Amino acid sequence: MKIAIGNDHAATDMKNEIMQYLKDKGLEVVNVGTDGHESVDYPVYAKKVCDKVVSGEADLGIAICGTGVGISIACNKVKGIRAVCCSEPFSAKLSRQHNNSNVLCFGARVIGPELAKMIVDEWLAAEFQGGRHQHRIDEIAEIEAL
Ligand code: RB5
Repeated sequence: MKIAIGNDHAATDMKNEIMQYLKDKGLEVVNVGTDGHESVDYPVYAKKVCDKVVSGEADLGIAICGTGVGISIACNKVKGIRAVCCSEPFSAKLSRQHNNSNVLCFGARVIGPELAKMIVDEWLAAEFQGGRHQHRIDEIAEIEAL
């Protein structure tokens, strides 16, 4: 499993901690930056993460900004991306099972690293359930194609 991970300046420390956590779990990680603390624009890093997922270079993506809001909005503008912004594990799990989310977002200024790790764990462990949910994913894709 390969995870693309990216962030803006508000989330560099959180990204580093989550990246190490993923590596310790034996997952392959592609870091698209930013790696500094100087102000950058989160849509740039949203696109970098999503491009890796859409191209198949990564299986899933994690995108982090201060709130998780801006970067998730930007991720959801990329065709084929279903990004979820989560501050708790329940929604993260269900976003995989029901919505087949392929990018997880959260806010480094909203939650701490231990809660973020729990969210990541639930998200990675869950699998898309298909069935009645597939039809709804197809309807999302139809909106995307308009
Ligand atoms: C950056 O100051 C901040 O706006 C950004 O990290 C994010 O929270 C936007 O949604």
